[in-house]
Amino acid sequence: MAKDQNSPLLSPDQALARLKALPRPWAGDYLAMYSNWLGGIVTEPWLMSVPIDDHLVHRGDGVFEATKCLGGRIYLFERHLDRLEGSAASTHLELPVTRRELGALAAAVVRAGGQRECMLRIFLSRGPGGFSTNPFECPAPGLYLVASRIHPPAEESYERGVNLGVSLVPAKSGFFAGVKSCNYLPNVLLKREAITRGWDFAVCLDPDGYLAEGSTENMGLVDQAGNLLLPPPDHILEGTTAKRAMELAQTLVERGQLAGVARRHLKVEELQSAAEVMLFGTTLDVLPVSRIDGKPVAGGQVGPVAKELRRLIQQDIAHNPAMSMAVWG
Ligand SMILES: Cc1ncc(COP(=O)(O)O)c(C=O)c1O
Repeated sequence: MAKDQNSPLLSPDQALARLKALPRPWAGDYLAMYSNWLGGIVTEPWLMSVPIDDHLVHRGDGVFEATKCLGGRIYLFERHLDRLEGSAASTHLELPVTRRELGALAAAVVRAGGQRECMLRIFLSRGPGGFSTNPFECPAPGLYLVASRIHPPAEESYERGVNLGVSLVPAKSGFFAGVKSCNYLPNVLLKREAITRGWDFAVCLDPDGYLAEGSTENMGLVDQAGNLLLPPPDHILEGTTAKRAMELAQTLVERGQLAGVARRHLKVEELQSAAEVMLFGTTLDVLPVSRIDGKPVAGGQVGPVAKELRRLIQQDIAHNPAMSMAVWG
């Protein structure tokens, strides 16, 4: 395509041609997208876009969910929708479709992507309409669903355990931590710190200095008395994975492998004295931590509780249809 040397003004045809030709090295991961703005599903990454006047883009005014499809079923789908509805209610957003229609759209997007194993993200936005913070500028909410390839941690991370750092990036607190909004700046800074400091993951502290959560994962530990402990929900996002893991952990309590399961404030020092430390999240299930800022915890070994909880979650994914939604029959 010939470039107009005198003016950056592009004709619609030129703009479209450029959009199509732009290099997108990451786009091989993008499988399919539904947009209520377009009114349908596209599978070409260059068409997967959101209008700039959607308040999601310029104000972060939207909420979302990240779910995973394994073996053609979206795990914990109903729970993700419960959380999405909670986030929407907290931010005065209304889904433009029924829950049943959203399920059908999710299945259609995953099917259009053609992969039985993938991530499916749902974004509910304030919608297009002006550039102010005023949510009443936007006549209708936006709904975008995107299927993309899934990249779980390497198996070696589960065998060796990962290196966790404690960050001083200010965490979201209270109300803002509990809403899965598209305001992820603290989470972004947390992730950035982990990468730049050579940690695999970072956790932040709540306003009282207690352990809170990771960039996109919850954390927990097993104390020396054999209790699985997770922070209370006041300053974290309630994870669907952590919640399911706590339910499944009751099996370990019954077998005597755990003394109990509880929520309470956790001090940073408790990481060093813990029998096990672990992370929970949709992409990683249950991931053991064997080092804190490079120093071994729990003898630098992967403990039995994290291993067993991961196995129970994987079993739940593969053999408990009540906990997932079928995308393919
Ligand atoms: C801030 C935060 N905490 C925790 C989690 C873990 O939640 P889930 O297990 O539902 O993936 C996420 C997930 O994206 C998150 O963004």
